[in-house]
Amino acid sequence: MGLTGNTRILNNQLRAKVMSAEAAAELIASGSTVGMSGFTGSGYPKAVPLALAARMEAERAAGNKFRLRVWTGASTGPELDGALAKADGIEFRLPYNSDPIAREKINRGEMEYFDMHLSQVAPMAWQGFLGPLDTAIIEVTGITADGALVPSSSVGNNKTWLDRAQKVILEVNRWQNPALEGMHDIYYGTALPPHRVPIPLIRPDDRIGQTTFSCDPDKIVAIVETDGPDRNLPFAKPDDAALRIAGHLIEFFRHEVARGRLPASLLPLQSGVGNIANAVLTGLMDAPFENMTAYTEVIQDGMLDLLNTGKLRMASATSFSLSPTAAEAMNANMSQYRGNMILRPQEISNHPELIRRLGCLAMNGLIEADIYGNVNSTHVMGSRIQNGIGGSGDFARNAYVSIFMTPSTAKGGKISAIVPQVSHVDHINQDVQIIVTEQGLADLRGLSPKQRANVIIANCAHPDYRPMLLDYYARARKGSYGQQSPSLPGEALSWHQRFMETGSMRV
Ligand code: COA
Repeated sequence: MGLTGNTRILNNQLRAKVMSAEAAAELIASGSTVGMSGFTGSGYPKAVPLALAARMEAERAAGNKFRLRVWTGASTGPELDGALAKADGIEFRLPYNSDPIAREKINRGEMEYFDMHLSQVAPMAWQGFLGPLDTAIIEVTGITADGALVPSSSVGNNKTWLDRAQKVILEVNRWQNPALEGMHDIYYGTALPPHRVPIPLIRPDDRIGQTTFSCDPDKIVAIVETDGPDRNLPFAKPDDAALRIAGHLIEFFRHEVARGRLPASLLPLQSGVGNIANAVLTGLMDAPFENMTAYTEVIQDGMLDLLNTGKLRMASATSFSLSPTAAEAMNANMSQYRGNMILRPQEISNHPELIRRLGCLAMNGLIEADIYGNVNSTHVMGSRIQNGIGGSGDFARNAYVSIFMTPSTAKGGKISAIVPQVSHVDHINQDVQIIVTEQGLADLRGLSPKQRANVIIANCAHPDYRPMLLDYYARARKGSYGQQSPSLPGEALSWHQRFMETGSMRV
């Protein structure tokens, strides 16, 4: 308790382990697996990865290779993914990436990328499928006198990395607000089958764990003191399409409340990453729902605004995903948020059983959907990774209502977000209940594939592409092998082929 003094390292035994980032980086061997903290630009180590990148560049200049296998919570910041990818130092990466340099490397085939459900990372690490973890590099806000680690602005997989790694390097970041202490809920009750027991979380605001990480001090080989900000990105100002999507969705929620299918405070909200998701949260500011809660993965600007006005009673997540301005504003008033925000390990924030039990309203973005409601969240033209599935699968499959939203076109209208057949499937049609574009909302609950196709084309497709979809669907109904989900396999992906050949899906 009390990280307010001159040092954030209150434990004497551990204070003796302070060293420079360069010295800490020397403790990591090429080829090793490193589990780093970090989730959507929050709480990632900022000094040791840069020192590692400098080492990688130096080794390369000397004709040697220095590459690592890198595990994190999700995306990180330019000092981690960006710097290591630029130094050609990442051999293998999991579980999620949104860094542009790393994305290019992956898409050029120069980096192996295992894109996976975020809730499954920790269990899979415990199962041993991912191989041994050599070193954990974890950012913390401070170290208490008894050696407990106060988490920083994200929790992610840190508990698992600290437990599983053979050695641990800590970055103690003075930029992180000491008032974060007490906000976290680190649950230590998970196990592998057959020893699993129910997770005792009944409401989003339940606290079921401890506020700090425990870590064997003998495993801690280095501590580096830092003072750098999280590098969060600004959100785009909601454009007309985003505002219309938000409007359709809020109208849908009103309708569901009026019909008694949702309570007036809605159900715990999950809101995905990206600009559209943030715009929907902003739209909820003027909606007639009070006393809402969020059980989600990240807390974005829109959620902070809802908390500030009291429309949102509390938010549970694993990380902040804030614009620099919002991060600054929150940092200035952190102690005020300790009562209505909880940050948990991602295996709990994204736990399928909890999401199903709480009845989350899942709202996620997509790359493209097809006329039957299958959704591609990850691959452009079926082969180029954009980011990754993230937590969208954890939430979509288990939500009370599973919603996907997107502008009806991309790249200035040259790409239709509604296509005859998705070029890659992340979410099967059974996991997709609502699709919203600026054109309108398709409620697919209880509909057969043919009924879904009619509603999706009529309500969601852009008018420029609607006749093409209707034409395809009419011919599929005549020439298809079966009539459950009519399709023309030789033509279903021709829109993508046309884009690759001509730069547009238009005929
Ligand atoms: N074809 C080609 N590119 C497309 C596309 C399509 N059908 N749809 C979107 N894109 C591109 C956009 O043009 C944009 O590219 P740019 O950065 O070069 O401008 C990029 O994808 C992002 O799209 P944008 O419209 O800005 O939407 P977004 O910020 O809401 O992101 C996803 C949309 C799908 C990329 C994003 O939601 C995502 O990564 N989802 C998967 C993970 C997830 O859902 N996590 C949440 C779980 S908690």
